[in-house]
Amino acid sequence: MNQSLSTKKQFKNKAPGVYQLLTWAAGQFRACGIEAPQRQAQELLMHILGISRVCLLAESGLKINSGIRGRFKDLVHKRLERIPLQYILGYEDFMGIRLQVGPGVLIPRPETELLAAEAYRICREMKSLRLIADLGTGSGNLALNLASRFPKALIYGVDSSPQALYWARRNRRRLKTGRVRLLCGDAELPIPRSRYGNFSLVVSNPPYILSSDIPGLQAEVGYEPRSALDGGPDGLSGIRRMLKAAARLLHPQGALICEIGMGQAGAVKKLFKKNGFVDIKVTPDWQNIPRIVSGKWRSP
Ligand SMILES: C[S@@+](CC[C@H](N)C(=O)[O-])C[C@H]1O[C@@H](n2cnc3c(N)ncnc32)[C@H](O)[C@@H]1O
Repeated sequence: MNQSLSTKKQFKNKAPGVYQLLTWAAGQFRACGIEAPQRQAQELLMHILGISRVCLLAESGLKINSGIRGRFKDLVHKRLERIPLQYILGYEDFMGIRLQVGPGVLIPRPETELLAAEAYRICREMKSLRLIADLGTGSGNLALNLASRFPKALIYGVDSSPQALYWARRNRRRLKTGRVRLLCGDAELPIPRSRYGNFSLVVSNPPYILSSDIPGLQAEVGYEPRSALDGGPDGLSGIRRMLKAAARLLHPQGALICEIGMGQAGAVKKLFKKNGFVDIKVTPDWQNIPRIVSGKWRSP
């Protein structure tokens, strides 16, 4: 029996409550191989009802009218097409800030929160912090977070994708974060030349997935922009580009911090050294995968 027919039959006789709707949606998600099916169903219903998880679970017997049921079913069907949950909801939370996201921009990932936390640590240790560059800013997650913590710094967020910058600009407007300049182009190139050699920190979460690994990723990732993922044949093209950019932007006591992919730490450490960085530090994520590499710039 096709999905919509089975749904109609199930809901024909009596108005289902929260519990039945969640059970139905979670079952559909499970059958389709979607991870965390209960949670995903809850997120969609919470979104439509505009209530918290606590309220949703406390009101599990609440009857749901046909209008809301229709909207819920539409969203469930979108999710069954493997459209990422965050694109359906229109947002993702990152380090306590709600960012708007949608097609054209990478959804910020939890491991990137570790990059943000390490970047804060480096910033706090700096004597003076005037200029920061976020290369490959995407939704603006890193630039806007750094701006909210270090309001005296001027932050340049650069992205080569105009679609990504559309979301970063929306987020900047909504969050009313002041000193963030968002520029379109390749790495350091759109930043005024007069600023070169004056940056305290360059932060980057570049694309780092091997081109050959992309077809095997989760179906949801196929909705995200390839330019945010594809790190070339060895996964390191983006990191090489950001190292070159950092060497031009940083002042002699400046630092570069990057997120990397699984198994890349050894190669990235070598690239940092080769490009003139010292005090190289690798930080593992919560699964103990080396995830963040930072180094201090010692200009030759
Ligand atoms: C992995 S995503 C990171 C986005 C965001 N910073 C985050 O952490 O979610 C990489 C971003 O870098 C951008 N990008 C890729 N190559 C670039 C380049 N050469 N110059 C500027 N941006 C680039 C992509 O468009 C994408 O938005």
